[in-house]
Amino acid sequence: MIPVKIREIQNRDAKQVAKMLQKEFGDDYKPFHFTESWLLEKIAYPNDLFLVVEKNNKKKGENIIGVIRACLVDIDLAELRNIVVHEEYRGNNIAERLIKQMLALLKKKGMRKVIVRTKAENKPALSLFRKLGFKKEGYFLEHFRRGVDIVQMYKFLE
Ligand SMILES: CC(C)(COP(=O)(O)OP(=O)(O)OC[C@H]1O[C@@H](n2cnc3c(N)ncnc32)[C@H](O)[C@@H]1OP(=O)(O)O)[C@@H](O)C(=O)NCCC(=O)NCCS
Repeated sequence: MIPVKIREIQNRDAKQVAKMLQKEFGDDYKPFHFTESWLLEKIAYPNDLFLVVEKNNKKKGENIIGVIRACLVDIDLAELRNIVVHEEYRGNNIAERLIKQMLALLKKKGMRKVIVRTKAENKPALSLFRKLGFKKEGYFLEHFRRGVDIVQMYKFLE
């Protein structure tokens, strides 16, 4: 298992994390841009929780290799968003560890149900969430792009 540290995001991570999100999701959200200032605003918002994955022996300024955001969208409902693991480190169960840690945090915050939405064609993400006990709840047709359907999955936190 690759040794990594999962911790809460700090303002100093914002530039790197915004770059990672822009690279992964930028095309889907055009013309919106994931910028450092956008992220700093989200970090300051109490209903947005972020965890990052830090790899210590990476070059200074490039030590963040993964991120997850959870939005507390209602009293006891949270949505997982913006989950990325750096390409070079995929397949090492990093996303699994990251999501498990976020679910534990959400449980502590009193969340009862957690949802996640992903493109219906995103097989890695669908099987990742299935492995973690999420189930399909429904589809959003052509939700944010013509021709791109979205699957919503859910999990109740016992
Ligand atoms: C999806 C993503 C976060 C997975 O990260 P990862 O660290 O490589 O995933 P893990 O190593 O923790 O994988 C855990 C499980 O997910 C599933 N999985 C992960 N990658 C997979 C792949 N390429 N193909 C099929 N299943 C995959 C498997 O069930 C795996 O369990 P296993 O190791 O027992 O087979 C990563 O591929 C990524 O950043 N993708 C681009 C962004 C994205 O699609 N985010 C999700 C949108 S909500």
